[in-house]
Amino acid sequence: MIILGIETSCDETAVAVVEDGVTEHASLIASQVALHAPFGGVVPELASRHHLENLLPLLAQCLRNARLVPRAIDAIAVTHKPGLIGSLLVGVSAAKALALAWHKPMVAVDHVHAHAYSAVMGRDDVPYPLATLVVSGGHTSIYAMRSAIELELVAETVDDAAGEAFDKVAAILGLGYPGGPAIDQRAAAGNPLAVKLPRSEVKGEPLAFSFSGIKTAVLYHCCGMDLARAASTLTEAQVADVCASFQHTVVEVLLDKLLAAAHAHGARGIALGGGVVANSRLRARAAEAARSHQLALYLAERRLTTDNAVMVAGLGYHLFRAGRIAALDLDATAH
Ligand code: KG4
Ligand code: ZN
Repeated sequence: MIILGIETSCDETAVAVVEDGVTEHASLIASQVALHAPFGGVVPELASRHHLENLLPLLAQCLRNARLVPRAIDAIAVTHKPGLIGSLLVGVSAAKALALAWHKPMVAVDHVHAHAYSAVMGRDDVPYPLATLVVSGGHTSIYAMRSAIELELVAETVDDAAGEAFDKVAAILGLGYPGGPAIDQRAAAGNPLAVKLPRSEVKGEPLAFSFSGIKTAVLYHCCGMDLARAASTLTEAQVADVCASFQHTVVEVLLDKLLAAAHAHGARGIALGGGVVANSRLRARAAEAARSHQLALYLAERRLTTDNAVMVAGLGYHLFRAGRIAALDLDATAH
């Protein structure tokens, strides 16, 4: 069964053709990172306009790369939430038009569930239930995952997403946007115990995350009380220490809560998906944690961690098989 996936929830325009939820025939991503970098973050209006320009040529190229004609496609899967509303609308409108023109069924995909699916994609005999962490620029959530399509939200962040904290800390340090890869790289030369930073704790909600405090702590550590003082006065070694300490603190919090959720929900394994799962320390520490807690580990492949349409088409296949066909009046929703 061949599914065409469309992803436009944030700043990547992505299209993919995937067979039976696993076999990738083609995948294209038009990244807007360079466009938004001068602004230090995604500008929603610019993002939607560029999706509009990029999507149809990307779609045509994707079908050519897959050597497929529209007739060969069984269904169209599209991300319809959550995300930037203008961006989502471009993908959803395109999917509706194609579904109507090609007489194909449409499947509505939740972007965060697709990140969760990316962790188990192509893996046989997954020992559900899993405790699954989706950690990206827009989301930090733990799910009890009972199958590819059954996810129950267990906990989430009450303020910033972890990836957002990486991006903001990188901005404080003058490392550019997106910040995750830059911090990951600088942290390799630093001491993770050099700077003591607050853990993300939320009163009365032991599994919930909060990352606004650590970001502020980094700001005061780097600039003192004089916030106008540029962090560029730090030496390279000091920057590396801040990066390593920040990354260490965030990774330990993410894994501690994921493991606690795994035990609370009788999970047999842990799964991790989303942009921050590209982080080298998170990947290494997740492997150690799974081993010491005797849990199976499902880590999204690095290339599937940031936004892509392969995970959308992959999850779309399972939803389609479960009969979850969307009507043509499908709404895009920000949350
Ligand atoms: O999944 P994604 O592409 O978009 C959302 O759905 O939000 O995630 C993007 C996020 C950004 O915040 C970026 O800084 C972060 O993933 N990221 C990383 C790394 N690579 C990307 N964070 C930490 N370490 C990395 N190596
Ligand atoms: Zn994402």
